[in-house]
Amino acid sequence: MRLWRRHDKATPLDSLPRDPRADEYPMPVVPYGWYAVLRSAELRPGKVVSLHYFGRALIAFRGADGQAAVRDAHCPHYGAHLGAGGKVVDGTVECPFHGWKFGTDGRCVAAPFAARTPKVSLGGFPVREHSGLVLVYVGPDEQPSWEVPEVPETRSRDFSTPIDDVCRARIHIQEMRENIVDESHFHFIHGQPEPAVQDWRQDGPYAEARGRIARRVLGWDIDNSFDAFMYGPGVMVVRSHGPLLSVTAIALTTPVDDTTSELRTLFYLRTPPQLRFLTPLFKLVFRREALSEVREEVEIWDHKIHQARPVLLPHEKGIRVLRRWYAQFYPS
Ligand code: FES
Ligand SMILES: [Fe+2]
Repeated sequence: MRLWRRHDKATPLDSLPRDPRADEYPMPVVPYGWYAVLRSAELRPGKVVSLHYFGRALIAFRGADGQAAVRDAHCPHYGAHLGAGGKVVDGTVECPFHGWKFGTDGRCVAAPFAARTPKVSLGGFPVREHSGLVLVYVGPDEQPSWEVPEVPETRSRDFSTPIDDVCRARIHIQEMRENIVDESHFHFIHGQPEPAVQDWRQDGPYAEARGRIARRVLGWDIDNSFDAFMYGPGVMVVRSHGPLLSVTAIALTTPVDDTTSELRTLFYLRTPPQLRFLTPLFKLVFRREALSEVREEVEIWDHKIHQARPVLLPHEKGIRVLRRWYAQFYPS
């Protein structure tokens, strides 16, 4: 009689208990910086949009002048969620419970039946809107000391409308960013013959990594150079140039809560003018090739632990360099 039974199939990882170390980080989950919380087109005038980032319930709406506001979702009066039935009235958000109104700066501007309007505010963030994005600043100061520059490709007629890819993973956003300087994974995940060689430059909250990507797509050898421009912890613009296709990718990493982060990537494609009719085809191929590689990374991110002291090989300098730069976004 057999006392043990061999498992022919490995137990699926998601049905096993989670190792608590996979959700532990020595650094805070929300580094200071600018984060994209919406695409501009997703915030229509007159609408209240409910969001959840940075472990907080949030709402977004537009003021009478069209200016975007991102504020805490809960009413200071009695705690109703302004996204649950709240309305935009004359550029203010009106609470569904007792009708208090709040301006884009968060201040209460009306409270029905009150002799005097209470001096209370909805918490919120400094907001900027450009490059088709609504960006908020999370940090210790009321006003940020640096800005994210506009991405010209988002307005250029030479580039396609973007492929918009959103995914979430149980990982700290810093690890999502480390991916671009993790030289060795370019071979295993992205099919490069060898680990990438990269050049690093930094200037305060901005940094730049330049490298080369060589790969085969549908039987063609493609040799692309790429420049990754980093604007703090939440925004990175990667420009890659190849003979047939240039791609500008805006990679937006935003903490959702203590365990989960979002990676939203907008890919803008440019084909040579004589091949512009092929853009839809390029988009299709790109979607198939690039997005499945991101999904492979998500699967790895979902389960990996944070190695505070990874065992890095001599050519794997990127992660260490990036971590040193990234440390400025945490309170000292
Ligand atoms: S809970 Fe918002 S007005 Fe009362
Ligand atoms: Fe990658």
